[in-house]
Formats: sequence, structure tokens, C-alpha cells
Amino acid sequence: MYLNHKNRASDREKKIYSKLHEKRKKSLEGGGEKKVENQHKKGKLTARERIELLVDENSFVELDSLVTHQSTKFNLENNKPLGDGVVTGHATIAERQVFIYSQDFTVFGGSLGRAQATKICKLMELAIKTGNPILGILDSGGARIQEGVASLAGYGDIFFRNIQASGVIPQISIILGPCAGGAVYSPALTDFVLMNKENSFMFVTGPEVVKAVTGEEISFYDLGGSEVHSKKTGVSHLVGESEEETLDLARKLLSYLPSNNLNDPPFDPEVREESEQTSLRELIPDKENEPYDMKSIIGTIVDSDSLLELNEDWAKNIIVGFARMQGFTVGIIANQPLFLGGAIDYNAADKASRFIRFCDSFNIPILTFVDVPGFLPGVKQEHEGIIRHGAKLLYAYSEATIPKISIIVRKAYGGAYIVMSSKHLGTDINLAWPSAQIAVMGAEGAVRILYRNRLKEEEPEKVLEEFTHKFKEEFANPYQAAELGYIDKVIFPEETRNEIVASLHLLQNKREQSPKRKHGVSPV
Ligand code: HXC
Repeated sequence: MYLNHKNRASDREKKIYSKLHEKRKKSLEGGGEKKVENQHKKGKLTARERIELLVDENSFVELDSLVTHQSTKFNLENNKPLGDGVVTGHATIAERQVFIYSQDFTVFGGSLGRAQATKICKLMELAIKTGNPILGILDSGGARIQEGVASLAGYGDIFFRNIQASGVIPQISIILGPCAGGAVYSPALTDFVLMNKENSFMFVTGPEVVKAVTGEEISFYDLGGSEVHSKKTGVSHLVGESEEETLDLARKLLSYLPSNNLNDPPFDPEVREESEQTSLRELIPDKENEPYDMKSIIGTIVDSDSLLELNEDWAKNIIVGFARMQGFTVGIIANQPLFLGGAIDYNAADKASRFIRFCDSFNIPILTFVDVPGFLPGVKQEHEGIIRHGAKLLYAYSEATIPKISIIVRKAYGGAYIVMSSKHLGTDINLAWPSAQIAVMGAEGAVRILYRNRLKEEEPEKVLEEFTHKFKEEFANPYQAAELGYIDKVIFPEETRNEIVASLHLLQNKREQSPKRKHGVSPV
């Protein structure tokens, strides 16, 4: 009697549990062996292989692996792969909780239909509710054509949630395949876009449509590959040489970011060797217009090897990125005299203002290194809207309520003096080196305007030299600004690191309320 009962139970168990075993096994197959082989042949990893590389070992917990589409058109009712072309779930990265979705190109080319979109939206909602970052790995042919408007609706729902999540949790998009059509707007709405050097493409209309409409012939790579988006458009913040490296960069990026807008960024307790601060004096050239690499100044001051530069190859005249100061995350913004003399152009203004807004949303103090001759002159700059773009930078600095610290190392001229984190925009601590020159404009330019007539009448070279010297004595230093309290402290370069660390401690509990309003109208 007892035996019979046991046999019956195990039969039933076998049936019930084997069904789940089967389904689980099936859900891992994606589009099947052949499609996986094709993916590998293209030098691409599968959706699950990518997740494994991205997260801590054995930490991934998959959700919705049994979801299928409900479409009945174009024979889809006979092809219902489990998971519907996207792997979603949660995991840890460096022991911190994250949410991840990874599109599976082996299933309908990773294309997004209603079911895939619903899975992604559900994950985004969980990420927002629990205050954890979301990382998306994109590899998709875009809207699933057979599902018509249902797939467009799916994209709309994702975009809406991208915007709801903006400024609440960090959102990172990792492009490891095609990302075409309106689909590009989800990564574009997220905080950071990472691309793989090869095999990653982003464009609103592909080469075929471009050819049909404009007659231009262009390859996928030249239209929307990693080089275009890292050098020309600024869409891509970081580029990896391989999928592995791109995923590694995502892990690294995350190490600087808090999990949500109510948390502080992680503190990195690793003890780092301090570099020799006295070498800073030698880094500023004697000649006023001689270029030098601002990164060598930043690299000396921040914790060793801690600078993670973003958009490194776009708008190179301004540097943005994360670094650490005694283990604390800081956002760095710095003029780069190596390119365009460090002048601000419309792309530099865009690059820096977006970065400031990210830091402000996520409690990351901003450290600004200033050596700026002004806004970049030129017809192209004026006609491309340097007024509108430059205004964004003023807006972003002024709106930001996180701790703001600035150091003028050499030039700070004209409007660019104001815009680069001046006291007038609410910067908390303004420092300057003795080599700082804070003036309405460069000495020679000023003399040419002020003494135009005398330069025509008298010995021009002598007049120019005499008054340029006089002008420099008067203005090409930080002391007028220090007398007026616009600079809090003039410091020796080797004092900078300690001053910044002390300021960061001082400002740790900074609280600043903006006027009550729905939101300002940033000149986007
Ligand atoms: C359904 C798709 C698909 C799509 C690809 N597939 N894209 N299925 N909807 N959008 C399928 C293919 O039919 C094929 O199925 C499999 O995925 C692999 O595709 P291949 O073409 O064989 O791969 P490959 O040669 O690598 O080319 C990849 C590709 C190409 C460049 C992405 O497939 C392509 O151009 N697809 C269309 C891209 C596109 O125009 N999408 C719509 C964009 S508009 P089989 O069964 O043969 O393996 C859009 C609007 C969004 O997305 C709007 C949001 C607001």
C-alpha cells in the first residue's frame, strides 16, 4: 500500500518536474544551434554569454524565461521561442544589485515585439522601484516587423520608462550589434552608451534607406559604427576593442556610480599611491599660448589611475570623466589646451553640460579645471548655435546643487571665465594657481582694442609691447579676483590635492534648495 503510493507520487513528480526541466532547457536554446553558430561566426557572443561576462559569477537570476509572443500573423503562431528574444533578470556586479536585459539576436534577429517590450518594461519598473541600476545589452533588428504597431508601442513604452528612470537610477546601454531605426532612442535616452569597436551600429535610417532617399552610398560602419559615434556625434561615451572589453568597461563605469539618486557613490577603500605634487609647477608652460596636456595635471591630482574619461575622442577641447579623490567619486570637467587651445565650442558645451546634469542627479561632486581662452570664434560656431549650446553649460552649472569646486590653472577669459564654474554660478570653492590669468580677454587683444588709434599713429610695436606688459601686470593674474572674493584662495599647485580633499569633506553635507517650480526651461 505504502509502496504503491510512493510509486504513484514519483510518477506524478516525474511528469510535473520533467515539464519544467524541459521548458528550462528549451528556454536556454535561443534560436537554436545553427543560429548560435552564426552569431559566433560573426565574432559575436550570445545574449547569455554576454551576461555571464558582465556580472559576478553565478549571480544572474533570470526572470520571464518562459514568456512567448502572442502573435498569430505571418505564421508566428507556429514559432514561439521561449523568452521572446531577450534575456532579462537581476544579478550583482562587484556585489551590488543590478538589473540586466540582453537581446538575443538568434531569435527573430533580436527584434522587439510586444512580449519582449513587456519583459523589458517590467524589468525597468523593478529597477526603478528597488533603486538599482539597469544595464541593457542591445543587439537587434529593431521593431519586429510581423507585429506591426504592437512593436512600435513596445518601443514607446520603453522610452517612457527610460525617461521615468532618468535621474533616479543609472541607465547604461551596451550596443553589441545593430541598433536601428527608432530603437536608437532608448540608448540615446540612457545615461551612458558603450559600443564595441566592431559589429556595433546605430542609425535612425540604414544605408539602404539613405541610398534611396539621398543617393548616398555608405557602409553600416561608416554610417553608424563606433568610430562615427565616438568621434563625430558624441552618442557613444566609451568604446571597447572587443565585446569582453566593452563589458568590462561597463563594470568599471558602474564602480563610480551610486545605485540610485538617494545613495552616495561607492567609496573605493583601495589605498593608492599619491604622485609627487610638486611636479605640478612644471606642467604649466611659461608661454601664454603654449599647449600642454591638461590630463597630466588631472592625473597628478586625482587618485592614481582613477580617471575614467568619457567621450574621449569627441569634443576633445573639453575633458569629462569620473575619478576618485581619496576614494571618493568626483566628476571631472576640464578645458584641454591641446585642442582648439581649450576654447569652448558647441560640442564641448553639450558634452560638459550633459555630464554636469548626470553628476548633479547622482550626488557626484564636480571638480572643474579651468584654462580657457574663451568661446571658439568663427562663422561655423555662430551659425551652428554656440549661443544656444553655450547657454546649456551656464544653465547646467548654475542648476547643479551638488558640491562644486573649481581651480583656475591658467587662462579664464571673458564669458568662458563665468561659464567654467565661476563663483557667480554658485560654485562653493573657487581656487586659483598663481599662474591664473583672469581677465575680460587676452592682454594683446585688449591693447589692440583699447589703443587702436595710438597703434596707428605712434610706433606700433613699442606701444603694443608697453601696454601689453602693463595690462598683464594689472589683470593677467588671480589677484583682482581674489581681492573681490571671486576666488576663495590662491594656492600653490602642490597644495591643490589637499585643498580639494579638504573641500570635499567640508561640502559633504551640503544642502541647497532650488526655488520651487515644476522644472526650469533649460535651453536644450
Ligand atoms: C523581424 C527580423 C527583423 C525585424 C531581422 N529579422 N530584423 N525579424 N523584424 N525587424 C530577422 C531576419 O528576418 C532573420 O530571420 C534574422 O532576424 C537575422 O537577420 P539577418 O538579416 O539574417 O541578419 P544580418 O544579415 O546580420 O542583418 C541584421 C540586420 C538586418 C542588419 C539587423 O536583419 C536588417 O536590416 N533588419 C531590418 C532592420 C530594420 O529596418 N528594422 C526596422 C527598423 S524601424 P531568419 O529567420 O531568416 O533567421 C524600427 C522602428 C522602431 O525599428 C520605432 C520605434 C519608435
